[in-house]
Amino acid sequence: MNVSEAIKQRRSVRAYLDKPVDPDLIKTIFLQAQDSASNCNTQPWHVVVVSGAVRDKIEQAMVSDIMSGKEPTPYFTPGDQGLKDEYRKRQIACAISLYDAMDIKYEEKDKRQQLMLRNWQFFGAPYAAFFSMPKTMSEINAVDMGIYLQSIMLLLTENGLASCPQGALAMYTDAVQEMANIPENHAIMFGLSFGYPDEQNQINQFEVGREELSQCVEFLA
Ligand SMILES: Cc1cc2nc3c(=O)[nH]c(=O)nc-3n(C[C@H](O)[C@H](O)[C@H](O)COP(=O)(O)O)c2cc1C
Repeated sequence: MNVSEAIKQRRSVRAYLDKPVDPDLIKTIFLQAQDSASNCNTQPWHVVVVSGAVRDKIEQAMVSDIMSGKEPTPYFTPGDQGLKDEYRKRQIACAISLYDAMDIKYEEKDKRQQLMLRNWQFFGAPYAAFFSMPKTMSEINAVDMGIYLQSIMLLLTENGLASCPQGALAMYTDAVQEMANIPENHAIMFGLSFGYPDEQNQINQFEVGREELSQCVEFLA
């Protein structure tokens, strides 16, 4: 698979098979992603990959926090705050595509909340990764985090695996911070659930589109 194919094939997958991944393959993917570019080669990323009992304990802790009505405490500003104009429209269109795929009407708040909760259950993925960077860092370093995330996602795709990047996994992090051994001076920016995709699952039957190129890129000469 070449880079163009991996970019085309990657999509956010929200249901997984209960099938283990060779631990050496996971290590290789993270080793290869170390070659990602970063500002002044600072490599601000720190990642904790969880599976098995640790993954399950973190899921339980996050779900229990949410069910008890705990307020989210993201350290970095969540990307969906204060969206306006075309960005808000795209956000709504994305959510509607997901609800449509699951036959959920907007008025069915309970069902929407159950679907939202799947985020903190890692969408059933056997693996989750928490990506943190030092709290003192800023936007330019967040760029590095995104570049690194894309490397990981494309490498997973190349190896027949799937993933879902999740800002949601940076929202209820009190328990995670300790259980996942996140460095004290770091804050979680996003998470990534991954594993072998459950291709037949209803939730994986939709694709969100993209804007026309001319809406996003200009070529001047
Ligand atoms: C930084 C980041 C955070 C995201 N957070 C979430 C999330 O919390 N939950 C979720 O279901 N999808 C999340 N997504 C996935 C986006 O919704 C998805 O990338 C977008 O709709 C485009 O769809 P595609 O990835 O299938 O191409 C996130 C994506 C990125 C890059």
